[in-house]
Amino acid sequence: MYVYLNDRIIPRSEAVISIFDHGFLYGDGIYETMRVYNGVVFKLDEHLNRLYRSASMIGLALPKDTDAIKIAVYETLSANDLSNAYVRLTVSRGRGPLGLDPDLCKEPTFLIIAEEFKEYPKAFYENGVRLIIPKTKRNFPEALNPQIKSLNFLNNILAKIEAKQADAYEALMLNISGKLTEGTISNVFFIKDEILCTPSIECGILDGITRRVVIELATREGITVKEGEFTKQDIYSASEVFITNTTLEVMPVSRVDDRTYEVGRVTRLLYKAYRQEVKAYVADVRSSGPSIWGYSE
Ligand code: PDD
Repeated sequence: MYVYLNDRIIPRSEAVISIFDHGFLYGDGIYETMRVYNGVVFKLDEHLNRLYRSASMIGLALPKDTDAIKIAVYETLSANDLSNAYVRLTVSRGRGPLGLDPDLCKEPTFLIIAEEFKEYPKAFYENGVRLIIPKTKRNFPEALNPQIKSLNFLNNILAKIEAKQADAYEALMLNISGKLTEGTISNVFFIKDEILCTPSIECGILDGITRRVVIELATREGITVKEGEFTKQDIYSASEVFITNTTLEVMPVSRVDDRTYEVGRVTRLLYKAYRQEVKAYVADVRSSGPSIWGYSE
């Protein structure tokens, strides 16, 4: 297995990062998780746009332009002979002396790890997963904006620990005003009175790429979508709940705290629509032929 580190594809066993890397010392960096279907990175442009936005929000100049990053991603996939994969692209502030000042680091560290995608258990999709609303509150935007997809994940990890203690799959955090935000690695949706509801970006969430696709698909299906502020009572009184992210896609929820839900019609419809969207996207990219970023048969 190979990884892409800085400017080179190297064997995993030879890939090492300095103990002075500020990503390690201070969580100073950003990342993206992408999903590859049949050799095509789904929504690559959207992921790279978000990477650039995260970088600009922490004042980090990315060491490569978009085309160079695309080439690097596809080179990593091809070095590992992967076509259904999980890709994690990480950029840290880089190596520098101790101290918070970002200028101490001259060169960002750039890393791509690609692995065979391991499917989630079918039972998760058939029966749904369990959520809790943890005591841990989501970072608020004026402190550490959840729109930055940063390496600083302790907020989410603290909530995840609560979920694990409660034997739940995911923790759906509230913000400091008691409004719903998002899970530790996912966005949340629920159906109430035939309306598809999801917390707005202003509540303090990551602008999920899957979330956007789902909103678009729902609108196309004639479902009314409401992005706004919601309380936990709203989700308790919902008829269906699901979570989304790049790897989970559309994952039904069977329970939030003590409230239980069926895997309902809208969730199933959007799950299918999402799979169709992926197929159409992949077919479209493949039919446009090999491209400058290394896509080839
Ligand atoms: N996580 N909210 C948070 C806090 C996330 O970490 C993620 C993604 C999402 C969903 O975003 P998207 O639909 O763009 O994947 C929402 C990824 C999968 C991860 O941490 O690996």
